[in-house]
Amino acid sequence: MKARLAALSAEALARIAAVEDAAALEQVEQTLLGRKGELSTLMRGIGDLPPEERGPFGQAVNAAKQALAEALEERRGEFAEVALRAELGDVRFDPSEPAPPSVRGHLHPITLVRREVERIFTGLGFDIEDGPEVESEAYNFDMLNIPAHHPARDMQDTFWLESGQVLRTHTSCVQLRAMQEREGRLPIRVIAPGRVFRNEQQDATHEHTFHQVEGLMIDRGVSVADMKGVLAMFLSRLFGAAVEIRLRPSYFPFVEPGFELDMRRADDPGGEWIELMGCGLVHPHVLRAGGVDPEEASGFAFGIGLDRVVMMRYGIDDIRWMMSGDPRFLRQF
Ligand code: DAH
Repeated sequence: MKARLAALSAEALARIAAVEDAAALEQVEQTLLGRKGELSTLMRGIGDLPPEERGPFGQAVNAAKQALAEALEERRGEFAEVALRAELGDVRFDPSEPAPPSVRGHLHPITLVRREVERIFTGLGFDIEDGPEVESEAYNFDMLNIPAHHPARDMQDTFWLESGQVLRTHTSCVQLRAMQEREGRLPIRVIAPGRVFRNEQQDATHEHTFHQVEGLMIDRGVSVADMKGVLAMFLSRLFGAAVEIRLRPSYFPFVEPGFELDMRRADDPGGEWIELMGCGLVHPHVLRAGGVDPEEASGFAFGIGLDRVVMMRYGIDDIRWMMSGDPRFLRQF
């Protein structure tokens, strides 16, 4: 039986060496090492041996199995490599080649300025509020005292969704959400930065997607004087220099009285006024819609275009750069 084992091993190794592909290799493995394979059959004859020879013979069979398994494994490795080369084609891959340097990202200028605005207002005791970009008609218009068919709706070109909702045309809707959330508890001091959308012709100063920061402060006895004080302080901090502000009467349905606010640097009295934001005292209809009793409390609101501020800050001449995603623009901040 020993001679038979030796002959079998030698023949098996020759077969393994002669195999030409992975499938054939598997076949050979089955006939050699499988449960009904030749070695197993030989092993079953162990009972016919004299007892003292059984141990050594068993060990010899196992050693032969081990040797065959190694030979099979080696061939399997060769076939796998051939397959991989075929898959990669002619590509030369050098795993020792250094990786290209990773590009370090950074914050968008809108984010930088928004965070600055948030820092200033949280320092003044304001909360930061968020609201949905897909908004209901009620929050975007009706509750802000802009009824259907009122010409004021045409002031803002709106993206309407098939659901009847809108892409919010301003952040003013968040005023109502903030009031409702607080269920009349005073004071209310919030800012709401966010994206807004208008369906209008694009040019250097108009973009379908842009950014605003809404502000709202409500308490007993809040007046235009409070509004001027807070906004002058905000703008001075934002622009890093004392500023003068001026209010011009204007119309926004959700405030009464309503104003346009202009500013100029205090150290440049001859300088030109820059139109910066809309603001005013919150209209009683809006207070009521938000659950605030206009007999008890009053407040001011404002809305400032963040893109404008970023453009002024960095001397950017076209708003369309903001959402362009152009790395040549973005890399500069
Ligand atoms: N929502 C206005 C707009 O998008 C901006 C605005 C004006 C907001 C006056 C206000 C405000 O809160 O009081 O044009």
